[in-house]
Amino acid sequence: MQRLQPALNTWCSITSRLITLLCLSASSGVSLVVPQPNINATVAQNILLSVEYSCQGVATIEWKHMSSWGTTSIVEWRSGNYVNISTVYKDRVTTFENGSIQLRNVGMRDAGYYFVTVMEEHGTNAYGTIIVNVYEIIYEDLHFVAVLFTFLAAVSAILICFMWLCNKSLHLFQKKTTHKLTGISLKI
Ligand SMILES: *[C@@H]1O[C@H](CO)[C@@H](O)[C@H](O)[C@H]1NC(C)=O
Ligand SMILES: *[C@@H]1O[C@H](CO)[C@@H](O)[C@H](O)[C@H]1NC(C)=O
Ligand SMILES: *[C@@H]1O[C@H](CO)[C@@H](O)[C@H](O)[C@H]1NC(C)=O
Repeated sequence: MQRLQPALNTWCSITSRLITLLCLSASSGVSLVVPQPNINATVAQNILLSVEYSCQGVATIEWKHMSSWGTTSIVEWRSGNYVNISTVYKDRVTTFENGSIQLRNVGMRDAGYYFVTVMEEHGTNAYGTIIVNVYEIIYEDLHFVAVLFTFLAAVSAILICFMWLCNKSLHLFQKKTTHKLTGISLKI
């Protein structure tokens, strides 16, 4: 479920385009790969915001979250130096060497845009964006219940047909047996 307003969406896409342009025009010694720029998650899931950066020197990585509720700084760290996770995310975020972060137990409020900035010592930066959609589990459950209900209805229909057939053939069988028995008793 995309919770962002259209205006914000447009603004974000313009911003990310500008960022991409800036990124391309800068002859940077730092590069960043975002293999999955769109993540669909359900409430309470753990997600990996996966990126991979490469640079010559020591880099500082910063992650920010932007949604209709505002922009929040998540974490900032310098490889092999310090990790500064903001208090709101203290127990929910793990950082990785390649610049990725894991966000545990996502809620509806975690939907939105995640901006990552990799800053090299000599001033060159690389930027990346990941869009996260968070879906409420209730819809999944309802879908599951609907599928299960259809399945059970189909199974019971088949069973009823089967029982009807059984019943029919049993009747035929019983009729035949009775005939035979009467035949025998008549002979006696
Ligand atoms: C996420 O969902 C949207 C629409 O619901 C779909 O277009 C997109 O491909 C999905 N992305 C992933 C990574 O599954
Ligand atoms: C970054 O590292 C994490 C943890 O080792 C890994 O799961 C993820 O796939 C890596 N990302 C990339 C783009 O290589
Ligand atoms: C960590 O973040 C807090 C608040 O954003 C800031 O005051 C502090 O200086 C930061 N620490 C480091 C080592 O960057």
